[in-house]
Amino acid sequence: MVDLSVQLGNLSLKNPMIAASGTFGYGEELNDYFPVEKLGAISTKGLSLKPREGNPMPRIVETPSGMINAIGLQNVGIEAFIRDKLPFLEKRGVVVIANIFGNTLDEYVEIARMLAPTSVQAVELNISCPNVKAGGMEFGNDPKMAAKVTEAVRRAFRRHLMVKLSPNVTSIVEIAKNVEAAGADSLSMINTITAMAINTKTRRPMIANRVGGLSGPAVRPIAVRMVAQTYPEVKIPIVGIGGIVNANDALEFFIAGAAAVQVGTATFMAPDACSRILDELEAYLEQSGIASIRELTGTLQP
Ligand SMILES: Cc1cc2nc3c(=O)[nH]c(=O)nc-3n(C[C@H](O)[C@H](O)[C@H](O)COP(=O)(O)O)c2cc1C
Repeated sequence: MVDLSVQLGNLSLKNPMIAASGTFGYGEELNDYFPVEKLGAISTKGLSLKPREGNPMPRIVETPSGMINAIGLQNVGIEAFIRDKLPFLEKRGVVVIANIFGNTLDEYVEIARMLAPTSVQAVELNISCPNVKAGGMEFGNDPKMAAKVTEAVRRAFRRHLMVKLSPNVTSIVEIAKNVEAAGADSLSMINTITAMAINTKTRRPMIANRVGGLSGPAVRPIAVRMVAQTYPEVKIPIVGIGGIVNANDALEFFIAGAAAVQVGTATFMAPDACSRILDELEAYLEQSGIASIRELTGTLQP
């Protein structure tokens, strides 16, 4: 028996496998493939104050070892989430991380306030979405703005506050330090990398929004590098994200400094990916005689 449990500051997870925001809906759809409560936690699709229809189609294109998406944060809105979607997750007893997004600082705060009296254990602050006109990355690109929105949401939501960082910056370490100082309990990294693909016959962008966010194995080395750079510079735990499709990929993140991981695009390749990767991780620990997953975090050798 190996110990898969992890502690992200004040948030206890029975294992380090978190379904990444935007790739797992609100949990219900994927429950046909495996019981969602098997996961350490689920990060919901990004939630905004009002429902959003997202960007025009096409919004997704496959690229070498990955995909570009510009969904534009289509979601049911915070009210409908609390009323219609959260009860299912409560019933399943899975830890819920509400991924939230605002066009303005006030909107972020309002959403966090609405989540405060619910059973949601954690908020993941998305200050890093490349696919929307206002908000998102504007906050994530500027260290002062990133700190300001973190601080404001911190006051509105007292349980676990995870801040999701954008890789589309010059220094992710600087943003990480600012967000930590502003009261974040953990960091999740990375969101997608701004990218573009062109249809050479029509000479048009492959997606209607022109640009979108690159995810999948193509981004993994960049994400691993960012986790390894950030880990020695902050005290709060890091959740590693980017291109994980098997246990070995996840191990790279743990060794680089992650305390837990999120899996996104792999779910589009196989809907049970999170469950399978978790089983693989457990088997790896057993076979290697490692008693706890926590022993791996930050064990990168020079
Ligand atoms: C279709 C799609 C939708 C996404 N929507 C969100 C979102 O709503 N909020 C967010 O913070 N990240 C969102 N992401 C980013 C993922 O959560 C994750 O950070 C990124 O895809 C990298 O991980 P991966 O390579 O395992 O997919 C989305 C990614 C994809 C592919």
